[in-house]
Amino acid sequence: MENKAAITGWGWHSPEHTLSNRDLEKLVDTTDSWIRSRTGIRERRVVGPGESTSTMCLAAAKKALDSAEVKAQDLDLVLCATTTPDFLLPATACLVQQHLGAVHAGAFDLNAACSGFVYGITVASQFIQAGTYRRVLVAAGECLTRFTNWQDRNTCILFGDGAAAVVLEATKQNAGVLSAVLGSHGDTEGLLSIQGGGSAHPASVETVAAGMHHIRMRGNEVFKKAVRMMVQSAQEALRIAKLSTRDLNLVVPHQANSRILSATQESLGIDADKMFINLDRLGNTGAASVPLALAELASGNRLKVGDNLLLVAFGGGLTWAAAVVRWADIAAIKRERARRLTA
Ligand code: UT7
Repeated sequence: MENKAAITGWGWHSPEHTLSNRDLEKLVDTTDSWIRSRTGIRERRVVGPGESTSTMCLAAAKKALDSAEVKAQDLDLVLCATTTPDFLLPATACLVQQHLGAVHAGAFDLNAACSGFVYGITVASQFIQAGTYRRVLVAAGECLTRFTNWQDRNTCILFGDGAAAVVLEATKQNAGVLSAVLGSHGDTEGLLSIQGGGSAHPASVETVAAGMHHIRMRGNEVFKKAVRMMVQSAQEALRIAKLSTRDLNLVVPHQANSRILSATQESLGIDADKMFINLDRLGNTGAASVPLALAELASGNRLKVGDNLLLVAFGGGLTWAAAVVRWADIAAIKRERARRLTA
């Protein structure tokens, strides 16, 4: 039987500092009730001095290794999904690899914006299914508030910071990543972008003066595409996994906006109580949002062996992605690993 890639460990990190809607009322012309009714967000976490995407990914990665009972030196690959890397060079994944001590692992970043984690586990799963690697760490982290224009009420109310990571391991169980669908429609219209600081517009006094280092978004247009593409990709991922919505135990969606989540859930014909939502507490944390939700569920013992999960996301790029993941018998994978080590 072919290898599948099962999640065997998870961890997350949320910064200490909380920014509430009331705090935002003091910065821009908005209200707590507008933000709650239009987005579902009550508060979000914001990084403090000394924190960055790599420090948060590192904290999450250490917890993921602990929970998987895997040593850093036994990792084959470290992947980091982020739109807000520490630097253009080196990759954030390389910083995480070095600080973890994952001395036998390759490392690279992946930028698929809010869909980045689902892209990341898809890539990891391909390496594992092909037999190239046994153990891959996929981290996803964002410091979106470092790219936020605090005078733009259209965007500054949405975003939060955080990171989460999982360990994926080869298994012969019929579990792990069962299917994945990735999609993109290149955003040439500036629907959601950070345009300054790259090779098209290298950082300069002019780019900074024009605010090109900030996130810009035409939220309404993104909203409509988000619902359509999340529904289509979810249906396709279910079809490939030969499952229907009735077989799903939980949906772990990108936490962008509660109205996007309700519209997606209704279009898919899924019960509302199967949609996991934590955006009220964390806001939109980009690539980190799906694994933050997943790690929270796993840590709360909400996931049982054999549960079918649908992970679905949409974001800048534009990108979208959906994956069906069956929760594996992790204890059996750990026992098998220990047997192999002592054999
Ligand atoms: O992470 C993946 C990618 N991102 C997303 O998925 C985000 C998708 N988009 C959204 O979540 C929503 O479009 C937003 C929450 C960003 C905006 O909600 P909306 O219902 O689409 O509002 P809108 O942009 O159509 O604006 C409606 C009104 C406007 O006023 P007028 O022109 O009708 O007078 C805005 O100026 O709401 C106004 N508005 C605000 N009012 C109070 C926009 N932002 C605010 C605000 N507080 N923060």
